[in-house]
Amino acid sequence: MAQLNTQLAGRHYISPLMNASGIHCGLDYMLDELTHSKAATYITKSATLQKRLGNPEPRYYNYKQNSLNSMGLPNEGIDYYLKYVNQDPQTAQRILSITPLTIEDIPLLSKKIDASGYDGLIEINLSCPNILGKPQIGYDFDQMAHYMKVIDQSFYPGSYGVKLPPYFDLVHFDMVAQILNQYPLAFVNSINSVGNALMIHEQQTVIFPKNGHGGLGGATIKPIALANVHAFYQRLNKNIDIIGTGGITNGRDVFEFILCGASMVQLGTVLAQKNLDIFEQIENELHAEMDKYDYKTISEFKGKLQYIQENDAISGASH
Ligand SMILES: Cc1cc2nc3c(=O)[nH]c(=O)nc-3n(C[C@H](O)[C@H](O)[C@H](O)COP(=O)(O)O)c2cc1C
Repeated sequence: MAQLNTQLAGRHYISPLMNASGIHCGLDYMLDELTHSKAATYITKSATLQKRLGNPEPRYYNYKQNSLNSMGLPNEGIDYYLKYVNQDPQTAQRILSITPLTIEDIPLLSKKIDASGYDGLIEINLSCPNILGKPQIGYDFDQMAHYMKVIDQSFYPGSYGVKLPPYFDLVHFDMVAQILNQYPLAFVNSINSVGNALMIHEQQTVIFPKNGHGGLGGATIKPIALANVHAFYQRLNKNIDIIGTGGITNGRDVFEFILCGASMVQLGTVLAQKNLDIFEQIENELHAEMDKYDYKTISEFKGKLQYIQENDAISGASH
C-alpha cells in the first residue's frame, strides 16, 4: 500500500491532510475532535491579539460544493489558542494561525508566543478578505514588503509561514516570490478564499456584511488554487514548503495539489459541509489515486506535473 507520510518544514506527518484555518478549529472541543480524527494535524483559527466577535450574521452560506463567508475573524484571542496548543503533547507538529490587524500587532503577537514557549509552526494570515475597512496585505506589495521585514525581525527563522490570497497575474507571482524569497520562511499557504465574491438567492444577497460580498471557497476555486500552488512552487526558494488550500473535495484533488508542488493540503469548505470522516474518505481516495499511477510515496510525484506538448492530443476524460 502507498505511504502517505510527508514533511513540512522538516517536521514529519503521517499524511498531507489537515483542516484549513477557520474550519472546525475555533474552540477547544473542536481542536480535540480534530486531534482524534484522521487528520495528520490541525491548524487553529486565526488568532488576533484580542478576542473578536466578528461580523454581524448571516455571514456564512453554503451553495452546492461552495461557500461564501464574511466571518470577520471571530476568535477567542491569541492567549486562548496558545494555552490550547501548549498543553498538546504534539505541540511541535501543530500550526498556530495568527492575524496581525496592524503592523504593530506583529511584535506583540510574537512576544506572547515566545513567552509561552510554543515550539510549533506559525501561520501568519496576510490575506483575510473580510475585515471591514482593511485591505488585504497580500494585495499591497509595498505594505507586504514592510510587513515581511517586521515579521522577520519578530519570529525565529524557519518557524513561520504566510497565508496568501489568490493571485491572477503572472507578474504578481513574480513580485510576491521576490519579496518572500528574501526571508527564511518555513512555508507558504496558498490560497485563502477568493475575496469579495457575490451569491444571490431569489433577488437577495445571501450574507449580510459588505452588501453581500464575501470570500468564496469550495470546488469552484480549485483551478485558481492549483495555479497559485504551481506558480509559487516554480518561483519560491526550494526550502520554502507549500501548503495547498482551495476547493479540495476528494483524493484526486489532493493528488493534483501534490503534483503542483504542495507538501500538505488543507480542507476548508468540504470540512465545513461534511463531518470529520472526510479525512478518512479522502485518505482512501488518495491511496487509490497513487495506486493508479503506481506511486508508493508522496515524494515520487510531488512537483512532478507533466506539461502537455505542442500538438499533443488531450488524453483522458474531459473535466
Ligand atoms: C467559515 C470560514 C472561516 C475562515 N476563517 C479563516 C481564518 O480564520 N484564517 C484563514 O487564514 N483562513 C480562513 N478561511 C479560509 C480557509 O482557510 C481557506 O483558505 C478557504 O476557505 C479556501 O479553502 P476551501 O476552498 O477548501 O474552502 C475561512 C474560510 C471559511 C469558509
